[in-house]
Amino acid sequence: MNVMGELLQKIKESDEFATMPHVASKVMSMVEDPDVTAAKLEKFISVDQVLTAEVLKLANSPLYAPRVPIVSLKHAISYLGLANIRSLVLMVAIRSLYGSQKEKEVMSLFWKHAAASAVVARSIALSVKEADLNAEEMFTLGLLHDFGKVVFLKFYPDRYMPLVKKVANGETDFCTVEKEEFGITHAEVGAMVLNQWGLPIDIVNAVGKHHRPPENGMEALICLTNVFCATWDYSMVDPQFEMKYLKMALDLLSIDEDKWREVTEEIKDKLKDSSELLGV
Ligand SMILES: [Fe+2]
Ligand SMILES: [Fe+2]
Repeated sequence: MNVMGELLQKIKESDEFATMPHVASKVMSMVEDPDVTAAKLEKFISVDQVLTAEVLKLANSPLYAPRVPIVSLKHAISYLGLANIRSLVLMVAIRSLYGSQKEKEVMSLFWKHAAASAVVARSIALSVKEADLNAEEMFTLGLLHDFGKVVFLKFYPDRYMPLVKKVANGETDFCTVEKEEFGITHAEVGAMVLNQWGLPIDIVNAVGKHHRPPENGMEALICLTNVFCATWDYSMVDPQFEMKYLKMALDLLSIDEDKWREVTEEIKDKLKDSSELLGV
């Protein structure tokens, strides 16, 4: 069996990775349901007190900068809206998935990149209105785009750790060494898992192609997200490896250099102010 087939098998047999964390998938489907009410969502989330507390902490962070303190879940839902709450629940659920893995040190660096990417991707979408990208969908894309690395590390720790070290030394990028070792990349593995989890097909496709030349707005946005993270130390990858398609991505989203500089300054501050809370 090839590595992809073997991995798909391992994922299907895994308690943790076979499906998206229950609370996240439930909240995602609730938010898509036209009949859902804020009260129903509140009732479902509030059963989990830890989750509720985490959502409230994030809702009060500089990421959302509420004008008055958000004191309850009900308040958070009415102030931020269902789509934002879905993003926060997803973030908390995925974070616990990273936290429960071995190889703690690398997992925490992977988490730093995932959480920062979620915030960065959402912020770019909000700042570049002309691109007409859904900010919460881009949050999901940022959060999950490198999930394939987590899968490699979980199922092949002995083969994957040396690759991580090479990347951390600045010698190479993930795709190059993954292709040599496994014949496939974390982008393809991530797309396979997210497809298995039932995520929307445009997210699955953008994840699968996130290290190729960008061809649409979503692919351009995830490219810019990785450039930002590599440049500002939210990534293990040396910036030179992420810069290849920067110009293409900026052109696709009609962002000129001044605008890009302005957007990055804004995001840098937002991330710095929330870094402890996000664990980045
Ligand atoms: Fe990647
Ligand atoms: Fe990345």
